[in-house]
Order: sequence, then structure tokens, then C-alpha cells
Amino acid sequence: MENRIEQIKSEAIEALKEVADIEQIKSLSVKYLGRKGLVTLFLRNISQLPPDQRPEAGKQANITKKELEKAFAEAISDIENQDQGAQANAIDVSLPGRPATRGTLHPITHITRQICSIFGRMGFDVAEGPEIETDYYNFEALNIPKYHPARDMQDTFYVSDNIVLRTHTSPIQVHIMEQNAPPIRIVAPGKVYRCDSDLTHTPMFNQVEGLLVDEQISFGDLKGILEAFVHEIFDEQISLRFRPSFFPFTEPSAEVDILCVMCRGKGCKVCSNTGWLEVLGCGMVHPAVFENVGYDTRRYNGFAFGMGVERLAMLKYGINDLRMFFESDYRFLRQF
Ligand code: PHE
Repeated sequence: MENRIEQIKSEAIEALKEVADIEQIKSLSVKYLGRKGLVTLFLRNISQLPPDQRPEAGKQANITKKELEKAFAEAISDIENQDQGAQANAIDVSLPGRPATRGTLHPITHITRQICSIFGRMGFDVAEGPEIETDYYNFEALNIPKYHPARDMQDTFYVSDNIVLRTHTSPIQVHIMEQNAPPIRIVAPGKVYRCDSDLTHTPMFNQVEGLLVDEQISFGDLKGILEAFVHEIFDEQISLRFRPSFFPFTEPSAEVDILCVMCRGKGCKVCSNTGWLEVLGCGMVHPAVFENVGYDTRRYNGFAFGMGVERLAMLKYGINDLRMFFESDYRFLRQF
């Protein structure tokens, strides 16, 4: 008799291993534990056993009944848990897709390339130079002697007595002329450093330098090239003016202003009510600079210009806070 209940139990456990869903477990439960189930019938028939076997058979049958109840309940909750897990991992096809984001050029890189490409079409090559310079290349060779008041125009980061972080891209002019004979036609983009930090100044910013050297170059050539450039980078219609200025390495020197892009000359906060915005510095290369690089000043002359890239970008895109360029805010950068 004991064997019989053992047999029922192991049969039930085997059958339970084969089930695939809750319905099948429920019908197994009926088959073994239901009103006419095998375990139930066994219990009912115990009275027909010889009296000495009854207590042990009853005990075994009850244990089996409890074990099977537990096994069926566990099997059901296993399947329920599996279903929930599958739901959590399932792909919800009704959700909006995640777009693949693409990188863009930083606005400063973008506009630097644009500047170089405009001058490229006018026959200028692109040149580069070191960001750490000797005092000679940054100042002396450009006709800015020691203790000259013009050094105050550019607050300098000194690495040591004689070595500086370049304060402008003009030293590239000197390197290029030392290494090449005229004619020369280059633009030179790069980072420059000044000990300056407020709303409109950052300790590092970008400039593009330009240099053209040949025979019989006139201020008219300079005006023509810069006018063509300004019209291309801003728009065909914009008015510009050349305002006399001073740089030690050019003579005569000028600054180029464009009609204020915000108020079109009426006067506003951006142009400090002058109606004009300064966009670059320029002039005819000073003979002293040519002498420093060994050029024959009776034969050659030329012009140079330099512009701040951040400033151009701010005017072109209507950005009023310089710091936006350096904060790496994705919402700002992705617009370009
Ligand atoms: N180097 C000057 C500056 O940084 C700009 C400039 C370049 C002016 C070339 C004249 C000629 O302000």
C-alpha cells in the first residue's frame, strides 16, 4: 500500500515536469487531488485496509497530498513570474523611436573653414604656426620693441621671460616670410591667448591672419579683397568702412567696420549706438617687418589683416554671449 502512494506521487512529479502552462498544471491537480483524484481515492479507500496498516498509510497519503499541493502551487507561480519577466523585457513597438544623433562641427570650426575657403577661392593658401612663441616672433619681429607702449594692447601670458603664449596670429606671418620668398598669399587660422576674462573676452580665442606680399600691391588691393570677403561672409548688400587705426606692424593701418547687423546703422546696444561694428584689423605691411625677414623693401610690399573668429561668428549668427562657444551645451551646438 505504501508503494502505491509512492508510485502515485512520483508519477505526479514526473508529469509536472512536462507541463507547459497553467491550464495543464490545473488539470494535473484535478487528476491527483480533485474529488475523484488518485490521492483522494487512496485516502477514501484506507478504511478497506487491514487495521494495522491504516495509520501508516493515512499518514503517508496526507504527506503526499501536502507535497503535491505545494509542488503544483510553486509550478503555477514559476510560470506567472516567467510571464512577467518576459513582459518587462519585451520591446514596446508603440514607443517613439530613439533617433540616432549625428555630430556637427563646432560653430568656430565651421566659420574658420568658411573663412579659409573664401580666401582659398581668391588664391590664398592655409598656413599654421606654433601657439607657444618667443618674444621675438610675437613682438620684436613685428616691430613691437620691448617696453613699447603697444605691448599694452595685448595682455600677455608669459611662460618665461622670453617665451609667451602667442597673443595674435601675426607671428605666423614672420615664420612664413622667413621660410618663403615672395610672392606670398596665405591665411593662417589659430588659437591665441590673452590674459583677459569678462563678458566679451576669454583667455583663449581664435583668429585668422592674412598676408599678401608681391610687387606693386596697393591699399586698393587690400580694400578690394576685404570687401569681397565681408560681402561673402555676411551678405552682398552690407556696407563697410575702413577707419584709420594703428598697429606697429602695418602702416598705414585701418580697422574695418560693417554696418551694425542688428540695427542696420540706427544705433543699438550691440554697436554701442555707433551704428557700426568692428570686424577686423588690417594695413600695409610695415617696412621694418620686411627688413626683419630680409625682404627687399624697394621691390616688395603687401598687406596683412587679422580677425577674431568668435566675434565674426557672434555677428553672423546673432549670438550675444561669447561664453556659449566654450560651454559645450549640446542644445546650442546642435544648431550649427
Ligand atoms: N594682430 C592684430 C591683432 O591681434 C590684428 C592685425 C593683423 C592687424 C594684421 C593688422 C594686420 O589685433
